[in-house]
Amino acid sequence: MSMNDPYEVSSSGETTSMNDSRRLATSIRDLTKEYVLKSETVRALRGVSFDVPEGDYVAIMGPSGSGKSTLLNLLGCLDKPTNGSLYLGEDDIAEMTDDELAEIRSTRIGFVFQSYNLIQQLSVVENIQVPLYYQGRLGSGEKRRAMELAERVGLGDRLDHRPAQLSGGQQQRVAIARSLVNDPFFVLADEPTGNLDSATTDEILQIFDALNDEGRTIILVTHEDDVADRAKRIVRLKDGMLHTDEQVSEERRVAARLAQRQAVEEMLARE
Ligand SMILES: Nc1ncnc2c1ncn2[C@@H]1O[C@H](COP(=O)(O)OP(=O)(O)O)[C@@H](O)[C@H]1O
Ligand SMILES: [Mg+2]
Repeated sequence: MSMNDPYEVSSSGETTSMNDSRRLATSIRDLTKEYVLKSETVRALRGVSFDVPEGDYVAIMGPSGSGKSTLLNLLGCLDKPTNGSLYLGEDDIAEMTDDELAEIRSTRIGFVFQSYNLIQQLSVVENIQVPLYYQGRLGSGEKRRAMELAERVGLGDRLDHRPAQLSGGQQQRVAIARSLVNDPFFVLADEPTGNLDSATTDEILQIFDALNDEGRTIILVTHEDDVADRAKRIVRLKDGMLHTDEQVSEERRVAARLAQRQAVEEMLARE
């Protein structure tokens, strides 16, 4: 089983997408997730199918309870589907043992959460290295990589700060750097700007734009239209099913960026 080489989309296979030469970061088919409670069974996902080519930037939207977090947790190998298939590259997650899932989670997936989830006792550089601790990779090369990533997200002058000494936006940048330390397959972000003001939201989205421009696949959940409009594609869920799946035109993406920049300038002018 190859862990690193995502499969090429074949023109004969069922995963054929619009552009056959692009590899798929993930492919899901008829995915269902049921939570069995004492009194009832919650059908959180009721058969969702779609492909995400490498380099895509997908915003997942939908009302509260529509299954967004459930889907992200399955993509992130935090949980197993009830039925259906979920491929990361050529590996079928649905067939994996818990140990294999844990391995994939710690080596191939970057997570960014609304509440940052940093470890308060650790410095910026140490927080960025956390995913590597789990693999026992702690050499000087790893530390250098963490420092480069801190620099990359604009925190080169905050390497030894602790989370409490940073603003929300800075903490989220640490989380983004941490999500990249394993050179992950894709970055999953659950409402990454949900706690941030418009200026900081724009800063964080600029980092995502730059990462995606370099080819990084990004899948994020958001409630906000102006955040979703900056992605390349918007997938909407409703009642645990795929409701719509639309490409975002370049004009709309540019307009969203301009509108956000303008909102930031107006906010700064008021201060
Ligand atoms: N761990 C769980 N146990 C039981 N029900 C759950 C669990 N997680 C989510 N659900 C239920 O599954 C449905 C989808 O939830 P979720 O994926 O969190 O939606 P969203 O993120 O779109 O708000 C909801 O009805 C929710 O109550
Ligand atoms: Mg949610």
